[in-house]
Amino acid sequence: MGDTAKINIGGKDIESPVLKGTIGPDVIDIRKLYGQTGAFTYDPGFTSTASCESAITYIDGDEGVLLHRGYPIGQLAEQSSFMEVCYLLLNGELPNADELTKFESTITRHTMVHEQLASFFNGFRRDAHPMAVMTGVVGALSAFYHDSTDISDPVQRRISAHRLIAKIPTIAAMAYKYSVGQPFVYPDNKLSYAGNFLKMTFGVPAEEYQVIPAVEKAMDRIFILHADHEQNASTSTVRLAGSSGANPFACIAAGIACLWGPAHGGANEACLNMLREIGTPDKIPHYIERAKDKNDPFRLMGFGHRVYKNYDPRATVMQQTLREVFEALNVQDPLFETAIRLEELALSDPYFKEKKLFPNVDFYSGIILSAIGFPTTMFTVLFALARTVGWVAQWNEMISDPGQKIGRPRQLYTGPVQRDYVPVDKR
Ligand code: ACO
Repeated sequence: MGDTAKINIGGKDIESPVLKGTIGPDVIDIRKLYGQTGAFTYDPGFTSTASCESAITYIDGDEGVLLHRGYPIGQLAEQSSFMEVCYLLLNGELPNADELTKFESTITRHTMVHEQLASFFNGFRRDAHPMAVMTGVVGALSAFYHDSTDISDPVQRRISAHRLIAKIPTIAAMAYKYSVGQPFVYPDNKLSYAGNFLKMTFGVPAEEYQVIPAVEKAMDRIFILHADHEQNASTSTVRLAGSSGANPFACIAAGIACLWGPAHGGANEACLNMLREIGTPDKIPHYIERAKDKNDPFRLMGFGHRVYKNYDPRATVMQQTLREVFEALNVQDPLFETAIRLEELALSDPYFKEKKLFPNVDFYSGIILSAIGFPTTMFTVLFALARTVGWVAQWNEMISDPGQKIGRPRQLYTGPVQRDYVPVDKR
């Protein structure tokens, strides 16, 4: 008999089993609570609620630890590749050399999109935010790839996973090309996943595109850093959408929509805009004061995290990557100095110390992406591109679970109690 938790409600003692993971906090299993007591639990932002069981990603926010299938993010970012991390997230183990070659070849050979999908873009205004385009076009994939939407078939699920991972860079690059009025560039099978994306984004048919190895490596690393992050808002959105049996393309489109918000994936765009607004280091104290002022809605973007109450381990790698990209491209961006100074000042301020607010992955990513040449509107698109594998892996894990149920939270009702309808002439 394992541990149990006792809940006393209305003078009645209820025992709930305590479930243990391989690491991390124990979880009180309250599935029978309503049946036994007629009461619900209340946790609107899921701050103390595990919404599922998962073997993909582990985070210890107090220690600043992030593991994918047990492997620390720092090791994966330094020694692995995004394709290898994709394989790991999807399959649970790192691939051997043959498995990796086969996987890379499968992804490479699925990068083209249905030619008719291109005409879809023409329906959007040129000045549409690329995330709006992504939400629409990725959702539309289910209209093009019917043959991989039967979610009860593991083979179709695998094909849709490969299609999503392979096609998302093509669609992301097309969203960019459409916004700048340049022709779409077809994928090039000779290139790596990151190199191909860079070519489709920055290449033009009029001249040969040379991938810069340091930028390709940085891009690949940025993809690794964003690949998965357990049950964050967009992943939970994908799971909830998928729990009804919706097809994977529709579910990933739902995830993209959720990611767009400035409290989540939109923070890198908001962070760079904030750094530009701050401008020079002498203005930092004023913005720190604003961030601390409860009457001012301003927050330091790229700071704070629901789970990390320590340095986000991805921010450490991001800062290192930033230095490498700046060196390779010979860039000197004064905003980097502003960011470093802002970090120093915030981390020495009692407000940020007490609330355990540290830089998150988005704090430095905007500066790197801007140095590579991406406009701010593309930042969240790149996040969505990289996170697609995490969403797909989590969705697939949920669908493969024989005990899977539709996600259906309950509520604490605070509206009017039952009353009689009054005809309009009597109101
Ligand atoms: N600047 C100033 N104060 C902050 C900040 C910030 N960036 N973040 C949190 N706080 C304060 C809050 O005002 C709150 O103070 P209080 O306890 O006195 O009311 C306290 O710290 C706790 O913050 P909450 O908003 O309750 O924490 P929550 O876990 O709900 O929010 C979030 C986390 C949304 C990330 C928040 O820190 C934030 O808005 N950060 C800026 C946006 C950002 O960088 N988002 C990226 C997240 S990473 C990602 O999605 C990849």
